[in-house]
Amino acid sequence: MATIALVSGGGGSLGREVAKRLSDSGCQIVLAGRNEQKLSEVALEKAFKIVADLAQPDEVQKLFDSIMSHFGQPPTLLAHCAGTVMIRPLHRTTPEQYRACLGSNLDSAFFALQGFVKGLIETHASGRAVLVSSIAARVGISNHAAVAAAKAGVEGLIRSAAATYAGQGLRINGVAPGMMRTAATEGFFGSSKAEEQIAAQYPLGRFGRVDDAAALICWLLSEEADWVTGQIIAVDGGFSSTRPLVKR
Ligand SMILES: NC(=O)c1ccc[n+]([C@@H]2O[C@H](COP(=O)([O-])OP(=O)(O)OC[C@H]3O[C@@H](n4cnc5c(N)ncnc54)[C@H](OP(=O)(O)O)[C@@H]3O)[C@@H](O)[C@H]2O)c1
Repeated sequence: MATIALVSGGGGSLGREVAKRLSDSGCQIVLAGRNEQKLSEVALEKAFKIVADLAQPDEVQKLFDSIMSHFGQPPTLLAHCAGTVMIRPLHRTTPEQYRACLGSNLDSAFFALQGFVKGLIETHASGRAVLVSSIAARVGISNHAAVAAAKAGVEGLIRSAAATYAGQGLRINGVAPGMMRTAATEGFFGSSKAEEQIAAQYPLGRFGRVDDAAALICWLLSEEADWVTGQIIAVDGGFSSTRPLVKR
């Protein structure tokens, strides 16, 4: 039986790329997301697709139950790509927007990782998980209050869970991307001026692509990263770690 890899947010831009790469490496893919239409558009022939809102614990439970009844075993790889991008000043963020942002980014990570770990414990298997944070969790970027708070929570979750389950051979890591051009951010790339302005924020001189984060996620899920756990690695063109000389 092939390794079962659960890719959440599997109908989204990053999720699709990760699923394709894991499928190419021989994994049996399970895609989970809220939007049936988006999942149905993913052209992976043998992927098992499940509609679920991962911010809801009962839907997460049903998701893992479906995987168990379909395959007879739980997934041993988790790429948690579900999440949102919300750029909005604190004083203009409504309670509904805040809760939706926390739900999609933090609650979904908590419940998906919880379901994943439970399945491994029950079957005495080991596994690897990667969750997606954001550079907004580590550098103060204006107008990112809700998503920064949510992703900072994701980073705490990763480190604590990595410590809890290291003894059982489970590796849990994260990636923290800068701005990638995806379905979630397409609206910010409305003109060539906007593209240039976004690219100029990054020391390496360009904005991110899904390949940048997908390659790192797949490496962290691979055996090559066998001695890496509890890490959140930035994939951000140097944004969070360097300060190039400003020339005038
Ligand atoms: N793009 C960026 O610049 C950027 C930067 C830093 C971090 N990130 C993170 O990268 C990840 C991938 O984002 P992306 O840019 O690829 O965006 P995307 O194309 O919109 O994909 C995100 C997917 O997450 C799914 N999702 C959201 N909330 C969910 C929930 N409660 N339950 C199940 N699925 C849910 C969405 O599914 P539905 O459509 O079905 O709702 C969507 O398909 C996210 O965690 C995002 O926060 C992105």
